[in-house]
Amino acid sequence: MPCWHLALYDDFAWFYNRYWNEEFHSLAFPILERIWLPRVLRKGRILDVCCGTGYLAGLLTARGYRVTGIDASAEMIALARQNVPAAAFQIADASQFRVLGKFDGAVSTFDSLNHILREEDLAAALQRTAAALKPGAPFAFDMLLESAYQTNWTDAFSTVRDDHVLVLSGSGFDVRTRLAQCRITMFRLLDGVWRRSDVEVRERCYTTSEIDAALSRAGFEETACYDARDLGMSGQLGQGRTFVVTTRK
Ligand SMILES: C[S@@+](CC[C@H](N)C(=O)[O-])C[C@H]1O[C@@H](n2cnc3c(N)ncnc32)[C@H](O)[C@@H]1O
Repeated sequence: MPCWHLALYDDFAWFYNRYWNEEFHSLAFPILERIWLPRVLRKGRILDVCCGTGYLAGLLTARGYRVTGIDASAEMIALARQNVPAAAFQIADASQFRVLGKFDGAVSTFDSLNHILREEDLAAALQRTAAALKPGAPFAFDMLLESAYQTNWTDAFSTVRDDHVLVLSGSGFDVRTRLAQCRITMFRLLDGVWRRSDVEVRERCYTTSEIDAALSRAGFEETACYDARDLGMSGQLGQGRTFVVTTRK
């Protein structure tokens, strides 16, 4: 399937880059430092799948790791390249990407894998990630489970600033299709003109047994799942979020 539909973050990239990176990673990075990073070879190569605007890549690069990030959104990747010139970034679909050489660890954060809407595409993304890793290398990611979609995805949120307005409204979770969606409407003042853009973010809820089975089929073993709240991620971000650490066979 072509990845043009995945570029939905393009219009949202500037806002994401300005506000969402730090809010999430100030809570997520200490968790990764506990459950995953100590298992990655010191100063080794790390693959960041769905890397967004490179905030995590920046934290890892600052600690001496050599990071390659892939993301489907050209705008997110353009900002990542500006934010972290020392890392390598590629525009690519997580279920189809290819990278050179083998990595000492992989990571995918902020429910990025929930953005993959078909089970076969999630399986392909996990297989691609496995293929990029050295035997024994750890892969960590977080995903949202049903309780997050049942609660947070019905909420609304808005922010009004001098040069932008953003309105986010969740349209809920469909238990039959397992899909959740939210609409983001943005107005941004650029060169004296207000510009509007609308983005529809859709995510798919997978169960822990589906995730577990897909990981084993892709060539991972010794999978451990942790509730984000037990790891100290408080508030709405931690609600229904699970951190998974697994190992390439
Ligand atoms: C919520 S953001 C998280 C970004 C980053 N991982 C972080 O922690 O800040 C989700 C990212 O996943 C990317 N994405 C969604 N579906 C994708 C796919 N199939 N392949 C590659 N990237 C994808 C989006 O473009 C977006 O940058």
